[in-house]
Formats: sequence, structure tokens, C-alpha cells
Amino acid sequence: MNRSIKFKLKNGKVVTIRRIRGTDYDAVMKFFDKVVRDPSAKYTSQYLGQPKKNKESSMAMYDSPNNLFLGAWDGDKLIGESTIIRVAPQNPKYRGLTGETGTIILDKYTSNGLGGKLKTIIEKWACENGVHKLYAEVMNKNIRSLNNLLKHGYEIVGIKRDAAIIDNEWVHIHILEKILDK
Ligand SMILES: CC(C)(COP(=O)(O)OP(=O)(O)OC[C@H]1O[C@@H](n2cnc3c(N)ncnc32)[C@H](O)[C@@H]1OP(=O)(O)O)[C@@H](O)C(=O)NCCC(=O)NCCS
Repeated sequence: MNRSIKFKLKNGKVVTIRRIRGTDYDAVMKFFDKVVRDPSAKYTSQYLGQPKKNKESSMAMYDSPNNLFLGAWDGDKLIGESTIIRVAPQNPKYRGLTGETGTIILDKYTSNGLGGKLKTIIEKWACENGVHKLYAEVMNKNIRSLNNLLKHGYEIVGIKRDAAIIDNEWVHIHILEKILDK
């Protein structure tokens, strides 16, 4: 995934999809400043006032060949991202065969087919780069995200009960996985 592609949302708007690089750090920080204000961030781990991610380690993460940070851009503004972080690639037992994945799109651009498109691209990258399994965690109240992953062939394989408290209520986290080379 080294080139950029154009993608037309269901509402007709065209966005560019390309890798996020270390040099995009400021754009990513601006993106998260907006994400935390979006109502749909409620059932994600993002929160208002969260500390800014460390610049050096973030840039290294974006540029690492073990990871894929894929961005959707409206002009020069990052409006969505879908990521794969390989778990313990140096460990001879884990070998980076599991890829932790997550997707966040600004509210204004959701439910327009972008989440599906990003998932398809990152999965292709995972297959081409020897990732055996994709892994995601989703809060049980995040129905849109659960539907999106189930539609893309993920299965719920477990649950972390009482994992968070939102609006004074316990929230569970579903663990979803998709084995790629079966
Ligand atoms: C979850 C998210 C990534 C999905 O991306 P999206 O671009 O909105 O989803 P898409 O338009 O590609 O829709 C794909 C499928 O998701 C489901 N979906 C989309 N919008 C939905 C909605 N409002 N309600 C229920 N299911 C929905 C549907 O199954 C849909 O398939 P279909 O419309 O073709 O039948 C995106 O909405 C998002 O970033 N939300 C906020 C942050 C978040 O919750 N991230 C996940 C954290 S774990």
C-alpha cells in the first residue's frame, strides 16, 4: 500500500486513501482532537482531554514496516484511519502473526462505505505481509462497529466483562478475530 487511491463515498464526496507517515504526525493529532468531540467516540477508548501521543514514538510506529497506518484524507485533512499493529514481531513464539486492528472515522464521514473500504485494503496488506489473524476489541454498545466487523467476516471469540464504565453503566468489550489464511 504505497500509492494513494481515490474513493468515492456513498454521498458523492471523493477522499484520498494513503498510508499515514511519520511526517503526518500533526495531521493525526488534529484528527484525534476532532474525534474526541464526536458523539460516536463515546463507545471507543478515546476521551476528551486525553494526553497527546508522544511524537517520536508515534512517528516510529507510523513508519514501521511491521504496521500499517492507513489514512483517508479530505484534501490535507485526515478524516479517518484504519490500522494494523503486528503483535510482538521479534518474539519467536508470536512472530507478529496477529495484527491488532482498529478503525476510526470522523462522524461526518461515517456510514458512507468508507469503513468497509479501509477494512478491505488493510486486510489485503495483512495477507500480503504474512499476518495470520486480525484481532479487534469493540465495546458491546458500539453496534455500528460490531456490524461493520461481522459483515467483514470477523467472529466474536470472547468477552471482557465489566471492562469500562460509561454513563455510570458497565460496558463489556467484545473480542473479535478473523483468521486470514484458512
Ligand atoms: C465503525 C466505523 C469504522 C464503520 O465505518 P463506516 O464507514 O461508518 O461503515 P460503512 O459505511 O463502511 O458500513 C459498513 C457496515 O457497517 C454497518 N453500519 C454502518 N453504519 C451503521 C449504522 N449507523 N448502524 C448500524 N450498522 C451500521 C453496516 O453493516 C454497514 O453495511 P451496509 O450499510 O453495507 O449494510 C465508523 O462508523 C466509525 O469510525 N465510528 C466511530 C468510531 C468507532 O466506533 N470506531 C470503532 C472503534 S472499535
